[in-house]
Amino acid sequence: MTLMKPSYVFLLFLLTLAPGIWAVRSPAAAMARRAALEDGIGQTPQMGWNSWNHFGCNINEQVIRQTADAMVDSGLAKLGYVYINIDDCWAAYDRDSQGNLAANTSTFPSGIAALADYVHQKGLKLGIYSDAGPRTCSNLMPGSLGHEEQDAKTFASWGIDYLKYDNCNNQGISPQPRYDAMSKALLNSGRGIFFSLCEWGSDDPAIWARAIGHSWRTTGDIQDNWASMTSIADANDKWASQAGPGGWNDPDMLEVGNGGMTTEEYRSHFSIWALAKAPLVIGCNISSRSNETKGILSNQNVIAVNQDEHGVQGHKGTKCNKMETKKGPAGASITARWSSIGLDPATVVDVHDLWTDEVISSVQREMKQTVDSHACKMYVLTPK
Ligand code: GLA
Repeated sequence: MTLMKPSYVFLLFLLTLAPGIWAVRSPAAAMARRAALEDGIGQTPQMGWNSWNHFGCNINEQVIRQTADAMVDSGLAKLGYVYINIDDCWAAYDRDSQGNLAANTSTFPSGIAALADYVHQKGLKLGIYSDAGPRTCSNLMPGSLGHEEQDAKTFASWGIDYLKYDNCNNQGISPQPRYDAMSKALLNSGRGIFFSLCEWGSDDPAIWARAIGHSWRTTGDIQDNWASMTSIADANDKWASQAGPGGWNDPDMLEVGNGGMTTEEYRSHFSIWALAKAPLVIGCNISSRSNETKGILSNQNVIAVNQDEHGVQGHKGTKCNKMETKKGPAGASITARWSSIGLDPATVVDVHDLWTDEVISSVQREMKQTVDSHACKMYVLTPK
């Protein structure tokens, strides 16, 4: 066992709507947590891709295969992005004559098992989507309410590794029994399947979902704009103490690369998600992503913060009024004080800038930096 020096991550922001300094302290403040599922899945936040944010219902088996190819060819797979997750709209409108879910034969003619084989041969994992109601959110396919055991067995027989389980058409039944039924069915299925609850935070799943699954949505759907992204980050912040190995707060999938935010805004989005130990589930078309997008998604320093084995979720610390600038691209000077994260001001630290990869050695007490509007700086402080 290696004894690691505690290190501290500072994220400095100049935000229009949600100013603040976010920080995480690790591992000194790590709380020992045991996942009720204890199946070894989800020890760090899940990393991968999901079809919804970019493709919506316009999916087919070529899109999934091309995405798996691009994940490997771009080098993203090697960085930990292993799940290729198919969202809503993959199945036929009705169940088959045995009552089983079946792939839509015009868009997935080879079937899901063949797709799982393809993805597995590339060293990746395949995820799928269903809903804890009779129909999914698109209404274009059946959901799994009342068919949990049967559907979990179908998914396992196809070689599925991940289930995102949505909350539409929920019949007014409380989420806990509906999600618990699928959790048990997955555990009975004979295959280790990551269980991602997509209950939108309606019934505070951060409080109860650790015993049921590996991640739980804490918010409604993200949209590809700054206001949505920052408000979701703020809503998710409230649940920071509930995250830890085996179970993660999920503020929804990444929008990086989808075009609605600037490169700096996407860098802030990715930094907050990494620090919040959020799932890093890419939501753009990775077959045609730009170099800027790839640069953000593949920053190993930032990914390492997200995948840190202690799993402590960073949270919002000091709120500086002077950062609340409402207009103009002008930068602001922000001071991050050691005392804001409970570090003795006399402590001498080396400061690693995670985005420029530079190290400033032997800094004491505080750091002052100029940060552009909607930009961020992210540092790891390591006491000498
Ligand atoms: C809900 C979920 C989204 C997506 C869609 C699919 O809105 O929250 O993430 O899965 O349904 O219809």
